[in-house]
Amino acid sequence: MKALVAFGTRYGTTARIAEIIGEELTKGGYEVDVLDLRDGAGGGVDGYDLVVLGSSVFVGKWTKEAQRFLESSAPALTERKVALFVSCSDVLFPEKVEAGRKMYLDDVAAGVPGLSPVAKGMFGGVIDFGRYNTLTKALLAGVGTKKRLRGKGIDPSQPYDFREWQEVRAWARALCP
Ligand SMILES: Cc1cc2nc3c(=O)[nH]c(=O)nc-3n(C[C@H](O)[C@H](O)[C@H](O)COP(=O)(O)O)c2cc1C
Repeated sequence: MKALVAFGTRYGTTARIAEIIGEELTKGGYEVDVLDLRDGAGGGVDGYDLVVLGSSVFVGKWTKEAQRFLESSAPALTERKVALFVSCSDVLFPEKVEAGRKMYLDDVAAGVPGLSPVAKGMFGGVIDFGRYNTLTKALLAGVGTKKRLRGKGIDPSQPYDFREWQEVRAWARALCP
């Protein structure tokens, strides 16, 4: 049984989530390839029994590489077991989770006719203002991100890693036969 874990990322923090998913799938008996879509689409999804496709979210959207991979693999994806995941900051705000799940996972899946993922994971990520350029900082200031983080007792002057490894591992284990 072969599994592909392909992911889109802008700042690299989703890569570790993909690796952890890969580790659990390997433990569960899959032969696993982990693919950073910034390096290209590899050989696509041919030959894989399971495809796990994920992306971090920026202004409501998957990265362009992940979105493109989903679209270009669409017909082949409908013929195999598929799981989708996102890493994003909305998980920090309970009032945003339902809409986030819909927009980043349900609507994305619905955009591919015939695709019915066996699982859709919404995971935390990393917020690190130290890595954002001036434009990105201005964008986030415009939507009140720092203020909302402070409201939760989070200091936005420091990197904040809210990836929940046990949650990611349990989600991946459930994909194993
Ligand atoms: C400019 C910007 C926009 C973002 N927009 C969203 C968003 O719309 N929804 C969300 O839940 N998270 C959003 N995030 C949070 C990222 O998805 C999160 O930081 C993620 O962990 C980044 O992963 P990466 O390092 O793999 O790119 C945004 C972050 C930045 C910097």
